Amino acid sequence: MPEIKKIAVIGAGVMGAGIAAQAANAGLDVLLLDRVPEGAADNNVIATGAIDKLLKSKPAALMHKRNARLISPGNTTEHLTELATCDWVIEAIVENLGIKRELYQKIDAYRGQHTIVSSNTSTLPLADLTDGLSEAFRKHFLITHFFNPPRYMRLLELVTGPETAPEVEAGIRACVDYKLGKSIVTCKDTPGFIANRIGTYWLQAAVVKAIAQDIGVEEADAVLSRPAGVPKTGVFGLLDLVGLDLMPHILANLEDTLPKTDAFHQLGGSPPLLETMVAEGYTGRKGKGGFYRLNADKVKEVISLQNGKYAPVKRPRPDALGAGKKGGLRAVLEHPSALGRYAWSVLSDTLAYAAGLVPEIADDIEAVDRAMRLGYNWKYGPFELLDKLGSAWFSARLKAENRPVPALLALADGRPFYRTREGHGQHLGTDQSYHTFQRPPGVLLLEDIKRRSRPLLGNRWASVWDLGEGVACLEFHSKMNSLNPFILSVIKKALKTLPERGFKGMVIYNEGEHFSVGANIAMLLVGGMLRLWPFIRWVLKDGQTTFSTMKYGNFPVVGAPAGMALGGGCELLLHCHAVTAHAETYMGLVEAGVGIVPGWGGCKEMLSRWTAAPKAPKGPVAPVLKAFELIVQAQVSTSAAQARDMLFLQADDEIVMNRDRVLSAARDRVQVLAENFQARTPAVFHLPGPTGKAALQIGIHDFVKRGIATAHDATVAGELATVLSGAETDMMDELSEQDILSLERDIIVRLMHTAQSRARVAHMLKTGKPLRN
Ligand code: NAI
Repeated sequence: MPEIKKIAVIGAGVMGAGIAAQAANAGLDVLLLDRVPEGAADNNVIATGAIDKLLKSKPAALMHKRNARLISPGNTTEHLTELATCDWVIEAIVENLGIKRELYQKIDAYRGQHTIVSSNTSTLPLADLTDGLSEAFRKHFLITHFFNPPRYMRLLELVTGPETAPEVEAGIRACVDYKLGKSIVTCKDTPGFIANRIGTYWLQAAVVKAIAQDIGVEEADAVLSRPAGVPKTGVFGLLDLVGLDLMPHILANLEDTLPKTDAFHQLGGSPPLLETMVAEGYTGRKGKGGFYRLNADKVKEVISLQNGKYAPVKRPRPDALGAGKKGGLRAVLEHPSALGRYAWSVLSDTLAYAAGLVPEIADDIEAVDRAMRLGYNWKYGPFELLDKLGSAWFSARLKAENRPVPALLALADGRPFYRTREGHGQHLGTDQSYHTFQRPPGVLLLEDIKRRSRPLLGNRWASVWDLGEGVACLEFHSKMNSLNPFILSVIKKALKTLPERGFKGMVIYNEGEHFSVGANIAMLLVGGMLRLWPFIRWVLKDGQTTFSTMKYGNFPVVGAPAGMALGGGCELLLHCHAVTAHAETYMGLVEAGVGIVPGWGGCKEMLSRWTAAPKAPKGPVAPVLKAFELIVQAQVSTSAAQARDMLFLQADDEIVMNRDRVLSAARDRVQVLAENFQARTPAVFHLPGPTGKAALQIGIHDFVKRGIATAHDATVAGELATVLSGAETDMMDELSEQDILSLERDIIVRLMHTAQSRARVAHMLKTGKPLRN
């Protein structure tokens, strides 16, 4: 099977455009086709418009604006002949069987002998889609169901038919996994596949039961979200987000296609309130509002499910949620309040429904759980939730209520759905025995390593693990992976002891949502409030020395971030010998937001990178100005690709599309570095001094005058300019790295003397947001 290099996407709507963008993010050539609207002056107008929208979309569909150049617009009247040159055609047109089949006939006439065709349908079975098409077409056809938005949702549901050729499936799997970075869940050919089958049931159950049991929208969202590990949008918030108008279509589709015996039908159709809302333009966030809306005074309001009138949102009282944090989900579901009964009725129905669908919709429970985690952002899948509640407790309660116990729950007979045996994760199969998790080749997960081994060293905030092949992995596990001196001590100890224990190198990596949000600034605040200046200096010096020891040591270290790597987390990566980044890595030196400057070598590294970069602007002040702009505006990259432009990543740092493949790639990188590893030598700097500082400050005063910057913004910017221009120096002087590091420390201490910087730190700690004072 030849490698997939060129893709055509037909249908340039929400999904087609998003899929085209992700394919372009992967570096593939994309042809984006849509129909020719009647009377159009430009036949490609729909696809061209879609590309324009991609460039403006928020959150951005493109990882880098230049990726748009890989997408060529076209139309299905003139450009179907070009399908012969494509390796894969993805159909993402309107969800209508007849229209899709009509298009497939045309695609079949024009596609190349080996061109693969897939549909992005959310509900239509493959058997129906391919009915009446040629044998060659059926051999080359499958369903690849992306989730919205395709760049950010990691799930891809894959369905093959009895005639799909194995090499066709293998080719698509490789492309989707390695290039598009998606996690593939194999589904059976049933309506709604896995995630939407269960997810739609859950949404519909939550809505109809809230109406029937007179539960408020915001109370329902509160009780169904946090206790169950569901995003805080809950059910009604999620419906507002995806669009209320989609719901009746999906419901109607499932009503038509699911067997009459399916429990889905017992929930009833679309509630009249929903229909009225859609008819009046209340389609959710894209319309006038939905279950929630902002009124003319920007006050958030919520609809009454009983009379359709809006009133300001009231936060539900914690006791209204049934139980506090302590008892967990089970206490909520056992609570005798109306809300407790509501939560139990929705969740018990949903979990029992899911338990009744294996093996009808998937071979195993792991596929179902992964689909719900990655497709609906649930923290736990249905079977993981059942384990939390206890399958015996759950079954007993169903029995006590005279409700049928699904076969899989009866088969579990009180045993957990998941367990660990001899260091391996296992799940219960429909054959009554446990099966060890199978990871695809090249997928290395720290969670697996942690199941089967003990840390080599560590403390409450960080641990070091043995990844095998002579490579260790340092993991932070502090709150939001913020960095503190205890973590620095683990880094220092690892650098000292791992080589003695025969390790070749180390990866710094974790499986949290974010690599690191930065240094724990609570230390800074305490130090500032108590005027413990030597303490602040010590914390700064500790980080600087740790990172320098790492950078100039003999032991290769590869940073492997995903998610946010901010402030101190970013500075740590700047000191690694190489970085293997997940494509969704957001890097930035955001210290100005808390009224300080980067103090763990961030200023020094940005100066040295912008001075040395081959494409960087030349001249004495130009590199200084680049570093200044990035830091003063606290710019954060919106992708790893963009981090490269900002020189947070370097040209030879690797970017990996699939989150599950980052660790393995980083381990490989360590091994390559370890061959002929040569320690680096520190940089020297020639900086412009006061004249450079003056140049950097030109803009600031204008910003203050125009009200864009505050007086304290100007103070912080001025101090940053002092560090980056090298303070009292000129281009003839030579400054060492230590000189710049010492400036970083001096300036931070000076800024922490100001009440405004202390207020910024305190505000960030309290609210998680920067204070503009
Ligand atoms: P959409 O309505 O945003 O876009 C559909 C596009 O297809 C439109 O630009 C339309 O002009 C074009 N089109 C319609 N008939 C055509 C034809 N015969 N030839 C060429 N182009 C044609 O729809 P959306 O939401 O992007 O959905 C597309 C497919 O993806 C559907 O099958 C849907 O079920 C599925 N899907 C949708 C998701 C969502 O959240 N919107 C999520 C996952 C799958």
